[in-house]
Amino acid sequence: MKEKVFVFAALPYVNNSLHLGHIAGAYLPYDVFRRFLKLTGYDVIATSGSDEHGTPITVTSIREGIPPEAIVEKFHKINLEIFNSMSIEFDAYIETSSKLHKEITTKFLKKLMEKGYIYEAEMTQPFCVKENIFLADRYVKGTCPHCGFESATGDQCENCGRPLEPNELINPICIFDQTAPEFRKTKHLFFKLSALQEDLLKYIDSKLNWRQNVLNFSKNFISKGLKDRPITRDLNWGVEVPFPGYEDKRIYVWFEALIGYLTGVSSVLGSQEGALTLWQDNDIKYYHFIGKDNIAFHSIIWPAMLLAHGNMTLPYNVAANEFLNYKGEKFSKSRGKGFSMLKLLEKYDSEFLRFGVLYNLPEEHDSDFSIEEFENRVNTELIDKFGNFVNRALILAFKKGAVSSDQIAQNELDQDAENTIRKSISTIISEVEGLHIRNAFRSWLDLAYYGNGYITNRKTWEACKKDDANCNAAIYTGVKLVYALAVSGQIFLPKTTKKILSWLGYEEPVEIKEDLNFPVAKLVTKPERLFEKIVNKELNLQLRIAKVEEINDHPNAEKLYLLDLDLGDSKRRIVSGIKNSYSKESLRGKKIVVVTNLKSANIRGETSNGMLLAAEDENGIHLVFAPDSANTGDAVKIGDMQTNSTEISIEEFRKFNIKTAKRDSDIVPALYLEDRPLFLEIQHGRLKLDGSPREGLSVK
Ligand code: MF3
Ligand code: ZN
Repeated sequence: MKEKVFVFAALPYVNNSLHLGHIAGAYLPYDVFRRFLKLTGYDVIATSGSDEHGTPITVTSIREGIPPEAIVEKFHKINLEIFNSMSIEFDAYIETSSKLHKEITTKFLKKLMEKGYIYEAEMTQPFCVKENIFLADRYVKGTCPHCGFESATGDQCENCGRPLEPNELINPICIFDQTAPEFRKTKHLFFKLSALQEDLLKYIDSKLNWRQNVLNFSKNFISKGLKDRPITRDLNWGVEVPFPGYEDKRIYVWFEALIGYLTGVSSVLGSQEGALTLWQDNDIKYYHFIGKDNIAFHSIIWPAMLLAHGNMTLPYNVAANEFLNYKGEKFSKSRGKGFSMLKLLEKYDSEFLRFGVLYNLPEEHDSDFSIEEFENRVNTELIDKFGNFVNRALILAFKKGAVSSDQIAQNELDQDAENTIRKSISTIISEVEGLHIRNAFRSWLDLAYYGNGYITNRKTWEACKKDDANCNAAIYTGVKLVYALAVSGQIFLPKTTKKILSWLGYEEPVEIKEDLNFPVAKLVTKPERLFEKIVNKELNLQLRIAKVEEINDHPNAEKLYLLDLDLGDSKRRIVSGIKNSYSKESLRGKKIVVVTNLKSANIRGETSNGMLLAAEDENGIHLVFAPDSANTGDAVKIGDMQTNSTEISIEEFRKFNIKTAKRDSDIVPALYLEDRPLFLEIQHGRLKLDGSPREGLSVK
């Protein structure tokens, strides 16, 4: 019988839709691992769901004046669509506001009560006098007592990851009206976490195979001493507390959301009893894929809850990933940063996004993501190397027809390829088993690069002009390399590899193992091109080189010049505010950069037809000059964009984020599109800023 394994991904809050940081931090590694287990012979139950309670949702509800039910329903649906597009799959994707989850949570809490792990006590809770409500933990903001982070919320510090209580915050304020809350007494249920300190320490100490980040965090957390934690809140959105006197309170969101894993398995099996029975089995292994801000809840609180419940096997591994940074900022929906998956999926193939994230998976350390790098990498590595190799190898094979492994005469290049295939697959297997998914992916990519080199070195075309057995060997080995990539790549790029496997006649998923059984290389369908390169769309901005012919003072304005410009095919006048920084003499005959598709504007009685690019700092204005060798009238290229000359208003122009950026050792003007720098290029020479490098660039 197949060994049973559970794989879980954290339940995302549904106050917003998922961004790339979520995918990198939990869901893509989860999906790769899940696919891997399935394809290496395990019986997998894999679940997650929407975390629908808690203050992230009520805060959004209050702020936007929408009932929490509506918010939750909307984003639950959107997230499911995102997962679907990204080929991230679940055997069950539950909702914590469902009847099933409430039932399971209630039973769990009653069990803990029975076992003496729950008691009632008074606590002080922040109370907003102005609004006459107890403030939930997240409704209070202040400075973290541990790390000094200034926007910590009363439940957790987003910076150092430590769970907090509102009264621990330094200078707490209510997030709705910024007033300082009063701390008033209110009664709540508490979970006796302190009683489990020893057991938890033993548990963590036994986890030699865990990632260092998780171990360090957890040991440090326990060593500070575990305190009992309140598990009810003064709220009206959440799971009801099944005890009298608690009608106006709800179960704390984390306490019940963690039970969502039990709900997930129950939902897959269609049986709560069945789920508990599996959980009791000492041999059951299960994995949690989470972002690093969820570590304490999964490595300590959740195991503590299971210990208190009794008869439950604890998590086998907690795979917490670090953060994906975008220009040094943490991806965070609560702070409104990062890349929304909806936006990314509008623009990019989901396989490209999987590729881009896997390449930079933030496993052991935070990692950086840049759109420019991502697009580049997709075009040059995934498409030029992997895609091209697959295509070259398969087209040859398609022409040749079937070649079986006993019709070939392999040379040393083929032998080397066979060895490389075996080694690569074995590395991929052991890396994924060790939860090093990024390494596994890089090994897979290396095999693609190897294949690309193999085809070139093997000179298959030439071989096939002469010796048949030699030609057969080259074709067979080429296709086997593609097959090996497709089989092992099923966990990374499911859509792409499925296509390749089906060309080769495999309609079902293929088991991943070191010894590939590949008797015959044959194509049942003509292979097509796998990918279309990323090309960027049109940009309605036109920049051209203009030569300054004449300069006059504006008759009605002290600081303005009238500049008469030559654009080669036409002349135009612009009004410009650079008089304090440039004398007439210093400008005459110079080549500058003008925006030529701006609507003309009347500036103090003179018509201006365009603007010029300049930067400004405390020393004044600095123009962007083109070298003398530049052709008057030439278009300035904006990265790899196709530009057009539709007229735009100055407001539209200001939407383009024009700044100086660094290229090689030069500081040059660049235009940012969604934070991707597009360098401004001309045919001859380089555009330079007059004066010292500076951040801002503007039109004058
Ligand atoms: N909703 C939490 C978050 O987005 C994660 C909860 S994981 C759980 O950070 F399963 F424990 F609920
Ligand atoms: Zn902190």
